[in-house]
Amino acid sequence: MTGIPKGEGPGLLKAQLAHCSNQRAYLPSDNMAKAKMAQQDTSTLAQGCFGKVYKVKYGDQWACVKRVPVDCISETDLVREYKVYRKAKHANVVRLLGDPWVKDLKWNIPLEFISGEELETTIFYPHKSKIKLNRFVQASIISGMCAGLTYLHSKDIVHQDIKPDNIMVEHETHRAIIIDLGLAKFFRDGISSARNLGNLAYSAPEILQQHAVRDQRSDVWAMGKVIAELCIGERLLTHTVTPSNIQSILSGNPYRRAVSKMVDSNPATRASMMTVSDKILRAIDEILRELLKLIVPVLDCDCLNHVRCCCKIQHKHTP
Ligand SMILES: Nc1ncnc2c1ncn2[C@@H]1O[C@H](COP(=O)(O)OP(=O)(O)OP(=O)(O)O)[C@@H](O)[C@H]1O
Ligand SMILES: [Mg+2]
Repeated sequence: MTGIPKGEGPGLLKAQLAHCSNQRAYLPSDNMAKAKMAQQDTSTLAQGCFGKVYKVKYGDQWACVKRVPVDCISETDLVREYKVYRKAKHANVVRLLGDPWVKDLKWNIPLEFISGEELETTIFYPHKSKIKLNRFVQASIISGMCAGLTYLHSKDIVHQDIKPDNIMVEHETHRAIIIDLGLAKFFRDGISSARNLGNLAYSAPEILQQHAVRDQRSDVWAMGKVIAELCIGERLLTHTVTPSNIQSILSGNPYRRAVSKMVDSNPATRASMMTVSDKILRAIDEILRELLKLIVPVLDCDCLNHVRCCCKIQHKHTP
């Protein structure tokens, strides 16, 4: 929940909390049991700007519980974040496991536990990463994070804080999962439900220069920058991320066309996730064909038929 300003005061919530001896509020009964379980067997996963993230046993599964002090987030913001999580159900977006509850003056938000690492580590700290990046792993990450963002946009949700720290990659499967919907907002008919916050390094030109409201188009720009950085393995300076620079930085790279459309400095002509998805799939198709060229000579007949079948499925997406 990067950037949620302090000092707004939880108001009604504080009164509620005093009444409930700081032990329970906003806690549906079935979650009480889970909350109790959550007291056992915890380990700290990360210290965020406004709270800590723990790995916790939640019922019979592991969960990631974000604990945010109640005076760091207003009830309005918490309820908004909760609604966004509840609305988002997609394999590439972190899942909310149940209703948040208050304990010891902290909000507890139970999320699907992802056994993996931040994309930040994968790209910029390869010595710490457990993921060996190659074109095929990159393809899995890119298709996953684009599918997640396309889904959020289809639900009128703007993430607002797309950056490599807010994308996790599962170690075993290389599934990419968008996390940290703390700043996400609903955006319908030009009316936004949240403040304009987010990381400046991944902010589109209209945000930096004209202080425009973050919307789907600024998410697309940020995702374009993340894909470019993933492809070259280097951090790019924000002002250097332009379509013409991307054309030369990603020269010969199949994602070049898609990414250059994503970082168009004019939000009015910038690609949407919906329109760019097709280009991304074509790029991935190109990469898969290369893989096929490598493996076909060693496949037996059954395997080959299976691969041909998969290719037909792929072609359905890329007419
Ligand atoms: N569902 C999850 N499963 C496993 N680890 C997670 C999960 N969600 C978050 N984390 C870990 O906790 C870190 C912080 O989580 P998140 O980004 O949601 O909170 P934050 O308050 O925004 O932190 P920061 O302000 O530092 O970005 C993540 O970068 C990741 O390492
Ligand atoms: Mg974060």
